[in-house]
Amino acid sequence: MLRRSLGLMVLLMLGLALAAEPGQAGGHTLYILDPDASAYNREVRGLLVWVMGFAALVFVVVTGALIYVTIRFRRTGKETAEPKQVHGNDRLEVVWTVIPTLIVLIIFGLSAQSMFRLDRPTPGAMVVEVRGWQFWWDFIYKDHGVRNSNELILPVGKPVRFEVTGGDGQNYDVIHSFRITSLVGARDAIPGVVTRIEVTPEKIGTYYGQCVELCGASHANMRFRVKVVSQEEFDRFIEGAKAYQAAPPKEPILVRGEELYKQQCAACHAIKGVSQGLSSNPDLTFFGNRTTVGAGMWPNVPEYLEPWIKNSPGMKPGVKMPAFTHLSDEDVKAIAAYLMSHKVDGLDFSNLEKY
Ligand code: CUA
Repeated sequence: MLRRSLGLMVLLMLGLALAAEPGQAGGHTLYILDPDASAYNREVRGLLVWVMGFAALVFVVVTGALIYVTIRFRRTGKETAEPKQVHGNDRLEVVWTVIPTLIVLIIFGLSAQSMFRLDRPTPGAMVVEVRGWQFWWDFIYKDHGVRNSNELILPVGKPVRFEVTGGDGQNYDVIHSFRITSLVGARDAIPGVVTRIEVTPEKIGTYYGQCVELCGASHANMRFRVKVVSQEEFDRFIEGAKAYQAAPPKEPILVRGEELYKQQCAACHAIKGVSQGLSSNPDLTFFGNRTTVGAGMWPNVPEYLEPWIKNSPGMKPGVKMPAFTHLSDEDVKAIAAYLMSHKVDGLDFSNLEKY
């Protein structure tokens, strides 16, 4: 019995040690609290070290006492009577009440300190409005008047303030929660309310975002990518986006694509200079610069983009875009090609390191 419990304990600790190792996902390290990525990560990581330290201390003391008692008072076969029976010990009870209370107070103090530090607004931070919709994300660069959906492009080393909300103020949506998993903690996206969170990204690369509030059938499929790029590349994106005017298509497939886009897509989606669309649907102006389709779900390549256009509800449960199964494969190809032709030239985000 004793040997079996010890064996189980060793297995459990081994499992915990393995779980603590950074996991491999798709060939890159998934490191949620990478201290090099942001001060936010460092702060939360520091807190975690304290909490885990106390947890380890409690684990060692309790398990140690248990093992000691199990061995020290084990049955020897030489017992002649019941051992001495003990009830109550005031000193012991005070000790095991006071110590945990102190631990909780220390953790509370440290957490409160971190919260005040992280919530302090940074003067001059760039403001990005974040809108959560079923089941995608809209990003509006308020200081620049630029809108981009499902992919967020940020300059490295510059503080950014996210103003997070659900819907657009007129059209309400359900509650979502905005989180850039490997960069900054979560803020709820609540219709009619603006919540704020700030971060300064410190490392160039692609970060993963995810909705972290259960919001419907495709909650798990409500993702986005964050591209942290050099200031120079970010400026190029903003300048390009501001100056952007959709050029009239020349190639026959693009001419056909535009015609179909205007018939099938333009009432709902916006492309600067082509269609106004509605704010409750993703903006497609810089679609050709995106690396994913379906709000972070698939790589933005024809083998995913074309079936998405034709039948998105078949690929992602609960999407509001209807199926376009009446379109021929040729027509779908033309729309896909037309969408991909809309981009700021000279930007390529596909080679960023993944975090
Ligand atoms: Cu949006 Cu979960």
